[in-house]
Amino acid sequence: MNILVTGGAGYIGSHTCIELLNAGYDIVVVDNLDNSNIKAIDTIKRLTGKDFPFYQYDMLEADKMEEIFANNKIDGVIHFAGLKAVGESTQIPLRYYHNNITGTLILMQLMEKYDVNNIVFSSSATVYGMPKTVPITEDFPLSTTNPYGSTKLMIEGIMTDASKANPKLSVTLLRYFNPIGAHKSGDLGEDPKGIPNNLLPYVAQVAVGKLEKVHVYGSDYPTVDGTGVRDYIHVVDLALGHLRALEHCSDKEGVHIYNLGTGNGYSVLQIVDAFSKACGKELPYVIDPRRPGDIAECYADAAKAKNELGWVATRGIAEMCEDTWRWQSKHPNGFDD
Ligand code: NAD
Ligand code: UD1
Repeated sequence: MNILVTGGAGYIGSHTCIELLNAGYDIVVVDNLDNSNIKAIDTIKRLTGKDFPFYQYDMLEADKMEEIFANNKIDGVIHFAGLKAVGESTQIPLRYYHNNITGTLILMQLMEKYDVNNIVFSSSATVYGMPKTVPITEDFPLSTTNPYGSTKLMIEGIMTDASKANPKLSVTLLRYFNPIGAHKSGDLGEDPKGIPNNLLPYVAQVAVGKLEKVHVYGSDYPTVDGTGVRDYIHVVDLALGHLRALEHCSDKEGVHIYNLGTGNGYSVLQIVDAFSKACGKELPYVIDPRRPGDIAECYADAAKAKNELGWVATRGIAEMCEDTWRWQSKHPNGFDD
């Protein structure tokens, strides 16, 4: 099976490419490297010992995207490409809508033209908005609090409408919780540009000495220790979830929706503690006010993916922190080292 991976040079896409190649899939990757590095592509090839076509194209350029479909026999698509920074999406919303929505429309129109009938999409737990309770099941009400989240919810709707109109189409919407961790080699991992917004890359940069201390956003939430609780999932477990989804869903028409999380929540302070153990030193932190828009707790009910896909996340929080630390300490400046 030949899978077109959009955004395959990015954090989750690159780890998924490795698992696809190791499992015997052929892949074709498209990425404009807007938020990634060509070295990720070289690393995928080196770690797997396999070659594949890579197109440094923007998915907004329909002619170039069509070249990919015309020159490769594509059997299915995993669609990671998109802009993903929540804060930035409130500042440049039109760019977010154009990139994420228009890019998806171009992709899906080409799939229709070239009779490619299955797609797995990177959605997010952000589509649950401010959930009233946890754990979150797939049938919870959907809403969003920022333009990034709205693009995810709109794309879910677009894909659902497309599947109603095309009975051959199989759509799988994977709602990720909080991906962290890195490849075991320590040569592939998350490489955020500038100061990280998300907790784990920030903690990792404190550990390696690039940032002074962790800023804990709020300690008065109704949680185990007052700090925010999230469902952190190892990026390799997440990648393997895509393979299970492809195997299970690609020949089943209609829309299939799964949470990809562990079902366990960890607080910010528990993460700081786990990372301190992984890197062998106490990490300094300070308690700051809450970050606007944050919720107290967010974790998945992961039963549907287990029961229907036979997929469970197997890597625990210690391994997630150890693998992040191996990548961060080996490559303090990410792929630029
Ligand atoms: P990432 O930024 O590392 O990867 C996305 C890739 O898409 C990048 O390599 C970027 O260059 C590429 N891209 C963006 N716009 C493009 C365009 N117009 N044409 C071609 N390539 C383009 O992000 P990631 O963390 O790997 O996330 C992958 C997907 O998963 C995204 O859709 C993201 O919204 C979603 N997601 C991520 C998280 C997370 O916490 N990382 C959580 C939930 C959902
Ligand atoms: C973020 C995204 C969300 C996305 C999710 C999955 C934001 C606002 N939301 O959510 O859309 O679906 O990732 O990856 O970016 N924290 C600190 N200090 C920091 C950074 C974070 O204390 O420097 C805390 C937060 O308050 C939160 C937890 O750590 O309690 C996790 O934060 P983060 O990594 O940003 O992820 P989410 O807020 O879950």
